[in-house]
Amino acid sequence: MALQFTINGVSQKIERISPTVTLLDYLREYISLKGTKEGCAEGDCGACTVIIAERQKRNTTYRVINSCLLVLPQADGKHILTIEGLACKSKNRGAVLEPIQKSMVEGDGTQCGFCTPGIMMSLYAFYNSNKIQTDKNIHEALAGNLCRCTGYRSIVDAARQERTFTKKKAISENLSTVAEYNHDGQRFFKPKTLKELSKIYSTYPSSTLLAGGTDLGISFSKDRKTTPLIIFTGDVKELGIIEETKEALTIGSAVTYSEILPYLEKLFPSFANLVTRIGSDQIRNVGTLCGNIATASPIGDTLPCLMALNSQLQICSDLGERRIDLEDFFISYRKTNLKKGEFIQSVSIPKLNANQTFKAYKVSKRYDQDISAVIGAFLVEFNQEIVAKTIIAFGGMDAIPRRANQSEKKLIGKTWNEENIYKVSEKISKEFKPISDFRASSTYRNQVAGNLFKRFYFDLLDPNKPNQVVDL
Ligand SMILES: Cc1cc2nc3c(=O)[nH]c(=O)nc-3n(C[C@H](O)[C@H](O)[C@H](O)COP(=O)(O)OP(=O)(O)OC[C@H]3O[C@@H](n4cnc5c(N)ncnc54)[C@H](O)[C@@H]3O)c2cc1C
Ligand code: FES
Ligand code: FES
Repeated sequence: MALQFTINGVSQKIERISPTVTLLDYLREYISLKGTKEGCAEGDCGACTVIIAERQKRNTTYRVINSCLLVLPQADGKHILTIEGLACKSKNRGAVLEPIQKSMVEGDGTQCGFCTPGIMMSLYAFYNSNKIQTDKNIHEALAGNLCRCTGYRSIVDAARQERTFTKKKAISENLSTVAEYNHDGQRFFKPKTLKELSKIYSTYPSSTLLAGGTDLGISFSKDRKTTPLIIFTGDVKELGIIEETKEALTIGSAVTYSEILPYLEKLFPSFANLVTRIGSDQIRNVGTLCGNIATASPIGDTLPCLMALNSQLQICSDLGERRIDLEDFFISYRKTNLKKGEFIQSVSIPKLNANQTFKAYKVSKRYDQDISAVIGAFLVEFNQEIVAKTIIAFGGMDAIPRRANQSEKKLIGKTWNEENIYKVSEKISKEFKPISDFRASSTYRNQVAGNLFKRFYFDLLDPNKPNQVVDL
């Protein structure tokens, strides 16, 4: 069956194109919309930014995404807006720019112009969201768009201008989607229910599961892989669920970072703060927490956090379901406990009790859009001044995310004071044998890991202190 979506309101029918062709290649090579640029082809530069517009009840929402990481079947049923669709065409006046486009032109916010279309799309989506126009929010909206020549001052100045926007671009009703798309030996499945997904995966266990594609997309975009069997999890109803009970927050494996952020901000603000540093809006609008878990990367940002929070995974297959502690999910470098035909259904994070405190820290060379050198996530439960329980978890210190078990033991039953924290911090610095690579040396990692735990102690002394290094 053919895929269907619209681009700037124009209907597209996709029949004889590989399912691993990216939306960016389609725009530029198949329909000659070359305003959307290709820079890195791996989600870092934002030159390829486009918007997915969605009707939600009476409202239209705009989500920026990197078109270089999205394959065509992921666009199925969607309304896409590109830079060519922003300015309106008027018979008498030619192209009528959006106010933010005008501000950029008038404020010299563009030089070579290569990054500009992506920046316009990000700012257009920002102004059509319900976010307030603070410098912090503008910074976040632009974090996924690199500009290498102008510098950001004139761009940020344009973004700061108070602007009223022209009417939101009208989009038609949401479109229907296909169940399967095939081309030249490649099969792309789009199950709608958990049952369908389990059945297809048990029939074709060598299939590749695709959630947001912010990891996998690079293999299509950069390596030009033509994977033969792909199962997309993003349309499975049960995997899109977020459930908050008295005891826990449960997040389905197709839920994106942007969707969980409001919950994390309420329940685990420090974790939320770390999630806002995962990639950019473009990445968080499609990338999923469970995709991060399944990659089992030693520097996956959320893994030590979920470990310290005692999270559990719900694993599913055609044969049934099982639960496993997240900690036991990682076996060795990028190897997980999943068996053939099994997939992650959801992750459950227990809520903190009144005696527990949790904080997470990410250390990377750049504040935004950077891969961690070390991630530290710490949970401590107090009985008055005494440590009743603690989980000290790290990423970047071993081939898999790990707890500092020996250091934890040293702290249990001890008084929570500077002297004891310094002793434990020293122990942490000796407990791992991390590698040296271009992100950080082994010595640096050991020292940072110990120091982060001291930082945790000092942050708890003053709960009103903001928990981030950069004052945005
Ligand atoms: C520019 C950029 C910046 C990034 N920044 C960060 C960062 O700061 N920190 C960080 O940790 N990561 C970062 N990432 C990596 C990536 O965004 C995350 O790992 C993300 O969470 C992956 O989720 P996804 O839904 O896109 O996964 P996908 O790419 O769809 O899949 C990832 C893996 O998970 C498997 N998978 C997906 N769903 C399931 C399931 N339900 N059950 C079993 N297996 C499944 C897939 O088969 C694949 O192996 C970045 C990536 C890019 C491109
Ligand atoms: S081309 Fe750089 S993010 Fe897509
Ligand atoms: S205007 Fe040249 S890179 Fe942005």
